[in-house]
Amino acid sequence: MSETTQTLVFTEYGGPEVQKLIEQPIPEPGSGQIAIAVKATGVNPADWKRREGWFGNAHPLPSPMGMEASGIVTAVGDDVSGFAVGDAVLGTPAIGYGSFAQHTLLNAAQSVLKPEEVSFADAATLPVAGATAYIATHQIELEAGQTMVILGAGGGVGNMSAQIGKVHKFNVIGIASESKREFVESAGATFVLSGEGVADRVRAVAPEGADVVIDLVGGQALRDVAPVAKDPKLVISASDAATVEELGGSALVRTADALEKITGVVEYGLVDPHVEKRFSLERADEAIAEVEGGHSLGKVIIEP
Ligand SMILES: NC(=O)c1ccc[n+]([C@@H]2O[C@H](COP(=O)([O-])OP(=O)(O)OC[C@H]3O[C@@H](n4cnc5c(N)ncnc54)[C@H](OP(=O)(O)O)[C@@H]3O)[C@@H](O)[C@H]2O)c1
Repeated sequence: MSETTQTLVFTEYGGPEVQKLIEQPIPEPGSGQIAIAVKATGVNPADWKRREGWFGNAHPLPSPMGMEASGIVTAVGDDVSGFAVGDAVLGTPAIGYGSFAQHTLLNAAQSVLKPEEVSFADAATLPVAGATAYIATHQIELEAGQTMVILGAGGGVGNMSAQIGKVHKFNVIGIASESKREFVESAGATFVLSGEGVADRVRAVAPEGADVVIDLVGGQALRDVAPVAKDPKLVISASDAATVEELGGSALVRTADALEKITGVVEYGLVDPHVEKRFSLERADEAIAEVEGGHSLGKVIIEP
């Protein structure tokens, strides 16, 4: 085994030009950590947002990128139970590590064993995007037949949210651009075109209003759609806490059991994460640019 790993980092806060593939020693797991050979890693909007400093600029530089991965355990740190060398796993990198790498460390408490039925590619989309979809569709509990409106239904989180809603027999309405019409409908949702006049188009298919609005876009798009909720409290956002709270709704609250739950849902074939594009680690810049464009369909992954 090579003693080093290629790792994508950002060298300072800024645009894509600060991303760099560097060679680092393979990290040894500390307490509560597991080392993995990365098989696949999902790309998320948070990757470029963190690089641009949306979440502050306190990370030591260079800062490794990538927040969700699947792989094979190569070493186990102290105080870790339930994982052994050779296990297939999926999870979230330990603080200070990233998943856009050949080898990395995962936080064992935010990792689970990968079921055989789930591919490494699909598994790599679950710690961030999949878990977020699970939380977004359960934060406000609906009953069968109630109406769930998803703003941003063609992206990684939105597509899985729509499928989860369908499993529960909710009346799912997915808002997206015209190019995603078929994709949104294939997830079991009623397609509504995004953009000016969107609230009227939602009301045309759900005159009684929405029992929950899940926002995955934020800003003006959220302001435009929020009024379709039966009550402002029924709006939740994964992408714009300030605006949703101003409107009387709430931000998404992450829960510890979501990763295990969404992994089970995918294992039983109830949800397909829909990996649309795959890139090598050498082409990580293109993978990130694809998501940074703001209009990706399904999930983009990197396979180091
Ligand atoms: N809080 C958390 O823990 C957490 C976790 C994961 C994700 N997130 C956030 O959730 C959001 C979605 O994440 P994601 O991974 O699903 O992103 P993604 O895969 O990049 O998808 C974003 C989707 O938004 C759609 N969109 C853009 N502008 C729109 C508009 N005006 N109206 C309707 N749709 C629009 C895009 O498609 P169109 O072509 O249809 O416009 C695209 O499909 C991001 O803001 C992300 O940062 C938060």
